[in-house]
Amino acid sequence: MKSEELLRLARVLKIPLSKRAIRRSWLIEEILLEFERREPETAQARKLHSPAIQIEHLEKRFGSKVAVRDLELKVNPGEIVGLVGPNGAGKTTTLRILTGIIKPTRGAVKVNGFNMFSETVKAKHCIGYIPEKPTCYPSLTAREYIMFMSRIYDVPPEIALVRMRKYVDVFQLDEFLDAYIGTLSKGNLQRVLIVGIFVRNPPYVLALDEPIYGLDPRGAWNLKALIKRLRSEGSAVLISTHILEVAAELCDRFVIMNEGDVVGRGTLDTLLQYHKDARNLEEVFLGLTGGIPQ
Ligand SMILES: Nc1ncnc2c1ncn2[C@@H]1O[C@H](COP(=O)(O)OP(=O)(O)OP(=O)(O)O)[C@@H](O)[C@H]1O
Ligand SMILES: [Mg+2]
Repeated sequence: MKSEELLRLARVLKIPLSKRAIRRSWLIEEILLEFERREPETAQARKLHSPAIQIEHLEKRFGSKVAVRDLELKVNPGEIVGLVGPNGAGKTTTLRILTGIIKPTRGAVKVNGFNMFSETVKAKHCIGYIPEKPTCYPSLTAREYIMFMSRIYDVPPEIALVRMRKYVDVFQLDEFLDAYIGTLSKGNLQRVLIVGIFVRNPPYVLALDEPIYGLDPRGAWNLKALIKRLRSEGSAVLISTHILEVAAELCDRFVIMNEGDVVGRGTLDTLLQYHKDARNLEEVFLGLTGGIPQ
């Protein structure tokens, strides 16, 4: 959607426009707000169930290998929880079960109150997932994919177009909108997947598997800023990352896994109180997952 089209839409929606130069980001926010104002009941109905993510007694075995053992985890609306742990700890397995890609050996997961394995369509409708290894339909263009996602998730086309413009601006995807997904670089593919989630209606329940890895510094900064803003607007985020500075910056609470077990959990303050010799999240993490290297 071009700036002139946004202006035309703003006039149709009777958004007061001053004579001063109008920033496109401001105009987009005003248009989206006006859409919300026109359908207050729909916006109200979209409030998330609490907890938005609920994982109970989760276990996953691959043959004799236990990838996840008796995991309990909740994420409330307005909260970012960090799932951290060394390679092979079970983070991706947990997120893949949470998003319904693989089934657990035991235990239950609920998304926005819906059981992922008995109310699958409703549960999947509520969750946004960034996989560890981004993949997507190679023969769609970025624009086709984003609009396809908006249709699957029942977003009215005019709202989808404005939201797509908002996030294409944020993630600087303009020049790639009509490129085939199969031709995109890893970081740009990841951005397209991100926009494919945010074109949907907020608030979001997000399962993000190493979402920062692969993005350049500006993309990473924009995604972190966006996640923080979404938290303040009531979204619920479960994020796995190895980048502990990112975890410390973003997350309200942590669940630290090691070889399928939870070995620590809580806020950074709680973890530091409990582990007196650790000075930061990195030292808590190293202490709980094999010891601080000498
Ligand atoms: N499909 C599978 N078949 C067999 N074993 C698997 C499968 N998927 C995962 N595993 C094993 O389960 C364990 C947990 O893997 P997982 O990918 O969840 O770890 P992770 O915490 O995401 O690690 P990383 O930080 O490297 O991404 C590992 O030992 C892995 O080899
Ligand atoms: Mg992983």
